[in-house]
Amino acid sequence: MAATDLQKVIDVKHWTDRLFSFRTTREQGFRFENGQFVMIGLPVEGRPLMRAYSMASANYEDSLEFFSIKVPDGPLTSRLAHIKTGDEIMVGRKPTGTLVQDALTDGKRLYLVSTGTGIAPFASIIKDPAIYERYEQVVLVHGCRFVDELAYGDRIVSDVRCDEFLGEIARLKLHHFPTVTREPFAHRGRVTELLRSGDVGAEFGLPRLDPEADRVMICGSPAMLSDMVALMDETGFVEGSISRPGSYVIEKAFVER
Ligand code: A2P
Repeated sequence: MAATDLQKVIDVKHWTDRLFSFRTTREQGFRFENGQFVMIGLPVEGRPLMRAYSMASANYEDSLEFFSIKVPDGPLTSRLAHIKTGDEIMVGRKPTGTLVQDALTDGKRLYLVSTGTGIAPFASIIKDPAIYERYEQVVLVHGCRFVDELAYGDRIVSDVRCDEFLGEIARLKLHHFPTVTREPFAHRGRVTELLRSGDVGAEFGLPRLDPEADRVMICGSPAMLSDMVALMDETGFVEGSISRPGSYVIEKAFVER
């Protein structure tokens, strides 16, 4: 049996010249946990070219959403960037990943810390009603180089806040902290610096990061992950996994090419 299914592209949105998102149909039997990723791809010279992508849609939605970078000479993204409604893409059958609630012990607040396309798994997680039951506050932190790269995050947050079922609780509990590093904006600086300084918490009247009360999910570039892990370690957080839940979890924002 093939390890992938073909799904039809339902729509594509280009956010900047470097970023786009797209929706596809979803196989009925495809089940996943919010925050997980799957292999997706296209046939290239007769062979599947597959890369890991986080689901940016929630597991109760009929379609799948993905958020991607475009790299002009990237083997997959340069091709994916041209997909159109009605095209087919390959979607793996085995979702997996560490950004899942079972890998975290109970806490009061959930921080979702991302850079660039690392926000994708959190687009899924902020649509999960269970996180608003589990945590008193949910803080989505998203760092990009430029202001226009924040647009996807703005849209997912405003969608959740306007949602018929989740809106009321999300308007109370979901906080959004977008920041950029390379041009003027309301918040400026790297996510690591703004968490370390306490600026993120202060914005919402929350205390400094505390391993007793806070749980942290992290998704970004390898350099961002290594700086975030250093911050977590020095603040007393413990990395979790499903077999041994802890106070933070990390995942690479996979596709860089
Ligand atoms: P900077 O502009 O200072 O490099 P990228 O598109 O390269 O993945 O970057 C996305 C965002 O992540 C940028 O704002 C970038 O800041 C930031 N960034 C890059 N490296 C790190 C790091 N080690 N820790 C935190 N943020 C980082």
